[in-house]
Amino acid sequence: MIELFPPKKLRGRIRIPGDKSLSHRGLILGALAEGLTRLENLSPGQDVASTLHVLRRLGCSIERTGGTVLVKGKGVAGFEEPAAPLNCGNSGTTTRLLIGVLTTQPIFSVLTGDRSLSRRPMSRVVAPLEKMGARIWGREHHSRLPLAILGGTLHGTHHTLPVASAQVKTALLLAGLRAEGETVVTEPAQSRDHTERLFSWLGLPFQKNGHTVRIRPASVPGFSLNIPGDFSSAAYFLALGTIHPNADIWIDRVNLNPTRTGFLQILQEMGALLEVEEIASVPEPVGAVRVRSSQLKNLEVPADKIPNLIDELPLLAVVATQAEGTLVVHGAAELRVKESDRIATLVKGLRKMGAAIEEFADGFAVTGPTPLLGASVRSFGDHRIAMSLSVAALVAKGGTRLQGDRWVRISYPAFFEDLKQLSEEK
Ligand code: S3P
Repeated sequence: MIELFPPKKLRGRIRIPGDKSLSHRGLILGALAEGLTRLENLSPGQDVASTLHVLRRLGCSIERTGGTVLVKGKGVAGFEEPAAPLNCGNSGTTTRLLIGVLTTQPIFSVLTGDRSLSRRPMSRVVAPLEKMGARIWGREHHSRLPLAILGGTLHGTHHTLPVASAQVKTALLLAGLRAEGETVVTEPAQSRDHTERLFSWLGLPFQKNGHTVRIRPASVPGFSLNIPGDFSSAAYFLALGTIHPNADIWIDRVNLNPTRTGFLQILQEMGALLEVEEIASVPEPVGAVRVRSSQLKNLEVPADKIPNLIDELPLLAVVATQAEGTLVVHGAAELRVKESDRIATLVKGLRKMGAAIEEFADGFAVTGPTPLLGASVRSFGDHRIAMSLSVAALVAKGGTRLQGDRWVRISYPAFFEDLKQLSEEK
């Protein structure tokens, strides 16, 4: 439990930890590579530690010194049969990406996870992989962990995804690295494209046309990647900076991949005072962002923007409580199958703090501005709900007691320390 109070002002520069999505991908591609891979600024979160731990159990040698990691690649088919089930902890990305890889390895493996992960749907990855010839068994018609996988030879298939999902797309592309023929994935909207950027940057036989991507079997070369800061972690400071009445914050070296920065674009449309300085662009755009206290107007979030701010939607609801008018989100039913049912857990927390929020099956509406009041709230074991409600607490009147604050360790272990530093800067 943590008790949070609103600071008088927020000042300073902050460098947030390495991007979680890129860290998972860097580790997995490094493990599949020929030769050595060096990753700098790896995400310090528990989710990425789960990927690292599982890859080690598959026989991969990974040396970690702080944020620097050296991975000795096993090649695209070199994983060793693990002696025990592989625990993916709380991490959906670890699980889904590795299901894709494990179906192509000549080994038997079992994936498990914590309570939240064991409730999350895996059929979105299992069903298309089965079409490629994968052999996977699990609870509830092979749709829930634990899953058992007997790897073998897959054949390339054209998949049309019902929902835009970078995890599913990446699982299929990773399987495609070793499937016979061509693996093609078409999504209904653009989800985050880190895998595509890495594939192109590494010179793999990869093509992209609109929302369709293609890969042929290939070996992966070792590489060296300096991972930029995680936009999803930066988003908490962007939100806080705009809605706190006395804020001026710089966020350094953050990933500005446009398939991730939907939240920044919406904040700009709402009238936020933001300055963006791009400093690099390969394989991912990176830059600094300045945010200052702003007067915001609520709006309707276009459905095609949802995949680009899916993880920031709970936070956007917090911002909307301090903006004028009504913010409406539809087409976001995916939120119900994240680490928690994020629509339900968010609505519970924000209502307790006095927000005017309406719940829909596929989203929510928030009308503002409403003064928030300190209250007793819960994270429901969800890191993004913990951090979103913390932002609400820092603009609320009085103290807020947050139960389950420890869940921030999943993506951003130093979140509360970094917050404190900004509120103490002269
Ligand atoms: C992720 C993709 C998103 C996101 C998750 C990380 C990734 O999930 O919510 O936090 O790294 O590919 P979906 O692909 O299921 O939308």
